[in-house]
Amino acid sequence: KEDHLYSIIILGASGDLAKKKIYPTLWMLYRDGLLPQNTLFVGYARSKLSVNDLQKSFEANCKVQPGQEGKFQEFMKNNIYVSGNYDKAEDFKRLHVALDEKEAKVKAGNRVFYLSLPPFVFDVATTFIRKACWGTRGWNRVVLEKPFGRDLETSRKLSEHLKGLFKEEEIYRIDHYLGKELVQNLITLRFANRIFGPSWNTHNIASVMISFKEPIGTQGRGGYFDEYGIIRDIIQNHLMQIFCLAAMEKPVSLDAEDIRDEKVRVLRRIKPVKLEDTVLGQYIANPDGKNDDERTGYLDDETVPKGSVTPTFASVVLKIDNERWEGVPWILRAGKALNERKAEIRVQFKTPDGDIFPDDDAKRNELVIRVQPNEAIYLKMMTKTPNSHFGIEETELDLTYSKRYEGLVLAEAYQLLFLEILRGRQMHFVRADELEETWRIFTPLLHQIEKDKVKPIQYKFGGRGPPEADDLAADNNFMYTGTY
Ligand code: BG6
Repeated sequence: KEDHLYSIIILGASGDLAKKKIYPTLWMLYRDGLLPQNTLFVGYARSKLSVNDLQKSFEANCKVQPGQEGKFQEFMKNNIYVSGNYDKAEDFKRLHVALDEKEAKVKAGNRVFYLSLPPFVFDVATTFIRKACWGTRGWNRVVLEKPFGRDLETSRKLSEHLKGLFKEEEIYRIDHYLGKELVQNLITLRFANRIFGPSWNTHNIASVMISFKEPIGTQGRGGYFDEYGIIRDIIQNHLMQIFCLAAMEKPVSLDAEDIRDEKVRVLRRIKPVKLEDTVLGQYIANPDGKNDDERTGYLDDETVPKGSVTPTFASVVLKIDNERWEGVPWILRAGKALNERKAEIRVQFKTPDGDIFPDDDAKRNELVIRVQPNEAIYLKMMTKTPNSHFGIEETELDLTYSKRYEGLVLAEAYQLLFLEILRGRQMHFVRADELEETWRIFTPLLHQIEKDKVKPIQYKFGGRGPPEADDLAADNNFMYTGTY
């Protein structure tokens, strides 16, 4: 609305996430005219900076193209910066006064508080936001990024703290995988197509794999990473969110609460993961690697504590105790320092009953949803080899986005999520009870790994991870097709 001011307050404005993701995202949204007309960008951090200094810190990441310089200057004119501590009420009060001044000229002032902060200041910063900085002339929303605690107990504590300050409708917990196009498409694919509904169950599906692969190591982020490990960094959040959307029942409607209710319901049918259903790995240097990163093992990273047993790779198997999924293994695997960047879901269907083709020809149908890169949905199926007498072969029904939607540029996850926050739609954000359930599933395993100092299996940088993970998949009815 034109007579409203929308202030986006970035707490931790000089930090890494702000420089690399948040400011560039805001710039792109501004450039493309997607933000409300009166949007104010407010940086807040401890360092004494000018808007100019701030600009220098993130400008390179904005990739301003020739011809866009004027627009970029206009964007910068809508930026202000306030320096202050995260544990001082009077500093937050100053921020409040600065916001009030800007809002004085308009009918309503809406505030988005984006916490791009290390977890140890979450508590104090949120307390002061609520007590000293809460707008009185419009809505207020608080945006948080993981880590949301490091196990069930600490996550519960944080949730209780937030519950004491804000209403759930005011809290936006980001899991940026929920902003990815192909993850968002899962609901449409499953529930807008007759063909998938009746076959999406234990009678037809043999197993499902959800995987995340990255060809980079910790790259100096070892200090953070070592505290958390791959299960907390990727599986408990990103992969579990994909899992929920793939496994849940059809929601009553597309409302945020209805969707999130179904996600929680399916999570509640899962028992905590056991160590025997898990393979853990840690990467070592690849002496033949093509760059320094590849020639550096996890333990060679100076920011990683000596002798750390933190896993950089994990594969776990989940089972859902409900009528739809009884007996179907869900294999979730994630790893750093692997051979490629890829995130995908592979749904393997059982072979047909009463097959009339020779055994060795019968292959499984497989539905692949490739989240990234080269977004695609394709279904592997058996068809007759052209011009043959009944030769059969595997072919594909292929929706590759770059072919079907030529020239389309998919919005980045953070862009979509920001717009949802401004619109007040929580469908793509994590609710407190979802978070609690995912932690319940992984906490006993995480505690056991830490208590027993379970040694991860070493794997070489740039490979497919420990072969034991392939054995785990095979034991869980997943057939290797050479590409996962
Ligand atoms: C983050 C993790 O949440 O996701 C990182 O902390 C990881 O370790 C990143 O690299 C991957 O995100 P994307 O969008 O590049 O797949």
